[in-house]
Amino acid sequence: MAIFFSQLPKIVFLSVIILAASYLPIPSLLSRSLSRLTQLKQHLSFNPSPALPKPPAIARPDRKFATMAYERELEIALLAVQRATLLTKSVYSSHSKGTLSKSDSSPVTIGDFGAQALIISSIKHAFPEDEVVGEEDANDLRQNGGLKDLVWDLVQKAKLEDSAAEDRIGGPIQSPDKMLDALDSGGSEGGAKGRIWALDPIDGTKGFLRGGQYAVCLALMVDGVPTVGVIGCPNLPVDDQAPLDSSIGADADGKEGKGVLFGAVKGEGASSRALGKGTLQAEQSIKMKPLDDITQATFCESVEAGHSSHGDQAAIASKLGITKPSVRMDSQAKYASIARGAGDLYLRLPTSKTYQEKIWDHAAGVVLVQEAGGEVTDAWGKPLNFSVGRTLKENKGVVAAPKAVFPRVIDAVKEVLDAKQ
Ligand SMILES: *[C@@H]1O[C@H](CO)[C@@H](O)[C@H](O)[C@H]1NC(C)=O
Repeated sequence: MAIFFSQLPKIVFLSVIILAASYLPIPSLLSRSLSRLTQLKQHLSFNPSPALPKPPAIARPDRKFATMAYERELEIALLAVQRATLLTKSVYSSHSKGTLSKSDSSPVTIGDFGAQALIISSIKHAFPEDEVVGEEDANDLRQNGGLKDLVWDLVQKAKLEDSAAEDRIGGPIQSPDKMLDALDSGGSEGGAKGRIWALDPIDGTKGFLRGGQYAVCLALMVDGVPTVGVIGCPNLPVDDQAPLDSSIGADADGKEGKGVLFGAVKGEGASSRALGKGTLQAEQSIKMKPLDDITQATFCESVEAGHSSHGDQAAIASKLGITKPSVRMDSQAKYASIARGAGDLYLRLPTSKTYQEKIWDHAAGVVLVQEAGGEVTDAWGKPLNFSVGRTLKENKGVVAAPKAVFPRVIDAVKEVLDAKQ
């Protein structure tokens, strides 16, 4: 046993070499690694204790070899969003089966409160000092006991099937009062300092109601910069490559192969995985599609004409020579869809001079697109400023596209906006 421990550094080094070799596809490198291995083996058996050289840098950095920044934040956010997404699915199915009576509050309201309580309680368990910007507070539930009971019932049932995963996010909420407390902890005003989570428990409420796209969205902002982004999309296809078509925006619920969890950390890349019920499923990294010919682009826009100007977006598409019809869907599923390369562009042109976008409608999606190789600005090409409160009050509209074509897209957007001035 003592010999085993004295050899431990070498055993670790050997494992690193073997793993590194398996990541490098080039045969010459592989054979070099193998001969190095043989030398090491001899070294190991004859000369038990001299210091070993530092393991070589690995060409493709992998999370197995280096701890990733914000790894714990990402894991907690993924588990918390997964659990809350399961709650929203259960609200939807009891609604569509008619088990929520007509006199009950809207399923969106119930799902919103339930998902927000679960996510805030997970964050506060893991990171008690962090602030949260959420849409709801507990006042409505305090005034409406029936609604409170409905939400509490759902919150109690929403448990991850894996107890270790459930423990990681603090386990079930202990009492109705604790649920109200969690809801009330979402009142941060945002700002430019410290760690602030932006939460949208059901983004895309109309999509949720029609069984189309909606998303459970959570982002950590550090000193006003979106840094960790997680989006649960129960009605998007698991397959990153599945092409987008106009049917995606409606009637997507309950089909096989649906339900995705997206995650990204600034500087660390973006990934997708199937939405599970217990521990996190295996992930794969995602990238935007290289767009060699912009006329072949697929662009995404909101379903609701009130949220963005369909007319301006059509004019921009035609300036760029895009002939495919737009794909309309609700929620930050649009950011997720372009980040995974299923679509290419996301255009959200302002419909009014006074509307201010909410930070929780964009923060998570922005991290995802940036980490998948894209750029996001407002309609005038200004960076989105998440550090000025609960809204993006310094910005108008949103444009997201792969970096390589971004300048062309923003030029077309400006031309269309200038022509209207
Ligand atoms: C955001 O706005 C604040 C206040 O106007 C400003 O100081 C800061 O530089 C802005 N940040 C970005 C990224 O534009």
